[in-house]
Amino acid sequence: MFLKNLELKNYRNYKHAQLNFDKGTILITGDNGQGKTNLLESIYYLSCGKSHRGSSTREIIHAQENFALMRAEAVAEDGKKRIEIELRREGNDKIRVDKVYRKKKSEFINIMPAVVFSPDDLSLVKGGPSFRRSYLDGILDRAARDFPGLRLRYQKTLAQRNSLINSMTHHPHKINTTLKVWTEKLISYGTTIMAYRMKLVEAIKDDFASHMDYFFGGSDALMGYMASWQQQPESLEDVESQYRKHMEKNLKKDLAMATTTIGPHRDEIILNLEGRNLRNYGSQGQQRLAALSMRLCELMFLFQKMGKSPLFLLDDVLSELDLLRKKLLIEKLGDRFQTMITATNIHYLEGVDIDICGKYVVSGGSVQRL
Ligand SMILES: Nc1ncnc2c1ncn2[C@@H]1O[C@H](COP(=O)(O)OP(=O)(O)OP(=O)(O)O)[C@@H](O)[C@H]1O
Ligand SMILES: [Mg+2]
Repeated sequence: MFLKNLELKNYRNYKHAQLNFDKGTILITGDNGQGKTNLLESIYYLSCGKSHRGSSTREIIHAQENFALMRAEAVAEDGKKRIEIELRREGNDKIRVDKVYRKKKSEFINIMPAVVFSPDDLSLVKGGPSFRRSYLDGILDRAARDFPGLRLRYQKTLAQRNSLINSMTHHPHKINTTLKVWTEKLISYGTTIMAYRMKLVEAIKDDFASHMDYFFGGSDALMGYMASWQQQPESLEDVESQYRKHMEKNLKKDLAMATTTIGPHRDEIILNLEGRNLRNYGSQGQQRLAALSMRLCELMFLFQKMGKSPLFLLDDVLSELDLLRKKLLIEKLGDRFQTMITATNIHYLEGVDIDICGKYVVSGGSVQRL
């Protein structure tokens, strides 16, 4: 699958841009602040209906305009698709696929799958557990139809349980049956979320280890799922019984702290290299390549799940890697995916044997093909 045509109107610093791409590796250069990341962001938005930077509609629409328009023509094995997203300052965004309006994100997110790697992804390894949970959830949101709804129901129930617990700290004699109902509901949704995440980790962990081994010859890397009760459940069957046991055990603590201290909202994804936690012991380069390996896992997982090759959007990846790792990365990507690489300087590719099928220069929100 590849992106053939992209059109932007009033998207951040792009007043109007129209671009044609070929399948293969595309290089986008430009000085700082010219619009490279914005361009990749718009492609990601067309892929899954949100900004990879977590930006709001207000931030995306050109400062002096009331709407932003993104249009993509994607070519897959089963034909061409045209995706159009219009963001409006007053709300009421519009999505069209082949000119037909779509109400839900789920009706278009798998048409043009994309994976983005950005400098911020260092947080996947260096940041707190929430970054790693979001990584898994971001994949599952696209790969499992019922996952977004499940997550929403869990969050809602969690908020209800927390507010009940909060009121109980002031009136300790009050209600127990309602608490039991919320707790059981939470365990039911939470178990399913954990099962999804654990299955995903199970599916990608060997891939993660092999990417790290590839980048750091002979190194022993590990990815694992750690429940909030500090135990790696042995099996999916284990999850629910362990969960219930620990919820009961932690009830006093929950009441004292006026919050739910156990559950998938507190779980962690362990990333180790040579038996040591990458978050605390890894070098900056090891952490960056671990984050990149996680994105490679995402790419391969979505590829297998969807049966079409996602776009790989690599924002400013070259400046941080040494020559050997750059060569390894380019070799690994090969020509299986349409890959877009941004860089402030073309010299970052010196010494790397790369077959580029399109070079673009971004300057002040306009793009030129070289
Ligand atoms: N809503 C908006 N309206 C107009 N301009 C915007 C909007 N949002 C961001 N910009 C502008 O877009 C530019 C940043 O673009 P972008 O982040 O794509 O740069 P970049 O080429 O990736 O730079 P760097 O190499 O520093 O990462 C800034 O000049 C910023 O002011
Ligand atoms: Mg940038």
